[in-house]
Amino acid sequence: MKSILVIDDNRLIRQTFKTHLASEGFEVSLAADGGEGVEQFERIRPDLVILDIHLPVMGGLDVLTRIREIDDKAYVIMITAFDDMKTTVEAMKLGAFEYICKPIDYDELLLGINKAQRMQEMDTKLDYLVTEASQEWNIDNIVGRTSQMRDVFKTIGMLSRSTTTVLIRGESGTGKELVARAIHYNSINREEPFVAVNCTALAEGVLESELFGHVRGAFTGAVRDSRGKIEIAQKGTLFLDEIGDISPNLQAKLLRVVENREFARVGGEKIERTEARIVGATNSDLEESVRKGSFREDLYYRLKVVEIKLPALRERREDIPDLVAYLLEKINRQLHTNVRKVPESVLKMLVNYDWKGNVRELENALTRAVTLAHGDVLLQEHLPLLRSTGMSQGLVTEELTSLKDMESRYIDHVLKQTRWNKSRTSEILGITRPTLDKKIKDYALVDPRKPRGAQTGEPVSGLG
Ligand SMILES: Nc1ncnc2c1ncn2[C@@H]1O[C@H](COP(=O)(O)OP(=O)(O)OP(=O)(O)O)[C@@H](O)[C@H]1O
Ligand SMILES: [Mg+2]
Repeated sequence: MKSILVIDDNRLIRQTFKTHLASEGFEVSLAADGGEGVEQFERIRPDLVILDIHLPVMGGLDVLTRIREIDDKAYVIMITAFDDMKTTVEAMKLGAFEYICKPIDYDELLLGINKAQRMQEMDTKLDYLVTEASQEWNIDNIVGRTSQMRDVFKTIGMLSRSTTTVLIRGESGTGKELVARAIHYNSINREEPFVAVNCTALAEGVLESELFGHVRGAFTGAVRDSRGKIEIAQKGTLFLDEIGDISPNLQAKLLRVVENREFARVGGEKIERTEARIVGATNSDLEESVRKGSFREDLYYRLKVVEIKLPALRERREDIPDLVAYLLEKINRQLHTNVRKVPESVLKMLVNYDWKGNVRELENALTRAVTLAHGDVLLQEHLPLLRSTGMSQGLVTEELTSLKDMESRYIDHVLKQTRWNKSRTSEILGITRPTLDKKIKDYALVDPRKPRGAQTGEPVSGLG
C-alpha cells in the first residue's frame, strides 16, 4: 500500500493529512470535492481513499458509492463526526472499510491504514489461491480422449452457466471428486467455496449438524450456534460424496434443500435459504436402493437432473497411455524425481491390467514404482500388481504377508524417501495428516534420524 487519496473540502485538514502521511512514506493526492475525488480515483487508482463524509454538492456517501462502482475492492476510510453515527453506519453498509472520528487521531488512522494493508495482501493471496485452484482443477487435468470421456467434458462445459444439481456415478477411483471440482472451478461461481462432505464417514447426528449447522442448545455440547457446510458453501458447490449412504431422515431434509433450496439448522426454527449447487457422488446402485426402499425415489430423481457416468478404466483402455504419461509427470513433480521412460512391454501390461481401483489404483501403483526406481526408467519389477516377483528394498518379497504388514512397511518406506516429511508422505499416500499420524503411532514407526525419546510425542517404550 503506497498511494493514498484524501478527499476533504477543508484545505487545512487536507494539508495536515498530506504532511502526516507523506512523513510515513505514502504518496498522497488531494481532492477538494466529490467530483474531483471520483475523477482522481479513476485516474490514479490509489491503494486507499480517505473520504470526508460531509462534502458539499456530491456527498460523501455518493462519492463512496461511485468509487465502489469503479472498483468493488476499493479500500475507503471515512472521516466522520461522533454525533453522526447514522450516516457512518450507512457508509459501512455501502462498503467503507473503516471510519475514524474528528478530531483526527493520526495514530488511530495509521492503525486503520495498516489493517487495510493487511486485508489487501490477503485479498491478493486469495485471488492467487483461486487462480491456483482453478488451474489445478482445470478440465485439462482430466485425461481422456475416448468418447465416454468426451461426453463428460461436454457435460461439464454445459454446467458452467447454471447451478443445476448433478449426480456423478462411477466405481471407486474413477475421478468423481476430480470431476466435481472441475464442475465447480469451471462455473461462474468458481470464486465461491467448494465444500466436500463425505456422507459415509460420519454418524447420522454428526452428519446432520455438519450439513445443516445447529443452534445453541440443540444437543449436549452445542454451546454456540454453528454454521453447516450448506451455509459455508454460500453460492459455491456442496459436494456430497457417497450420497447413497445417507439415512432416510437426512434424505428427507436434503430433498427439501434440492427441491426448495430451504433448510433449518438442527434445533432451529428459522428457515434458511441456500444458493449452493449440490453435486452428489456415488459408487452404489441407487436404482437398487430405490427398489429396496432404502433411498427415496423423489430425491433420486431430483439428484439426477444431470447425471455424469464415469467409465471404469478397463472400459477406456485407450486412455491408459495418456494417463500413465500424465500421472508420471504429476508424481515426478511431487517427488522431485525424473522417471519418464516406460518400456513398451511395461506399457502394454499397464494397458491390459484390469485396474479394479481405476485411476487411483494406477496412480498408486505408479507412485510406488517411481519411489522404487533408481534411474529414469519405470521397471516392471516395481509394479508388483503386474508381476509380484523381485526383491526390492524389502518391500516386494516372495514371502506372503498380511495387508497390514505391507501397509506398515510401505508407509515406513515412503517416510524414509521423504525424509519424514509428513505432509508430503500423506500426500503421496493419499491419506490425511491425522490418519498418517495415527498409522505411524499404530505401527510404531520411528524416524531413525532422531534420537530415541525425541520422537514426535509418541511413546517409545516397547518398541524393541
Ligand atoms: N481422468 C483423470 N485424469 C487424471 N487424473 C485422474 C482422472 N481420474 C481420476 N484421476 C486421479 O485419480 C485419483 C482418484 O480420483 P478421485 O478421488 O476423483 O476418484 P473417486 O471416483 O472420487 O474415488 P472414490 O470413489 O474412491 O472416492 C485422483 O488423484 C485423481 O486426480
Ligand atoms: Mg471420491
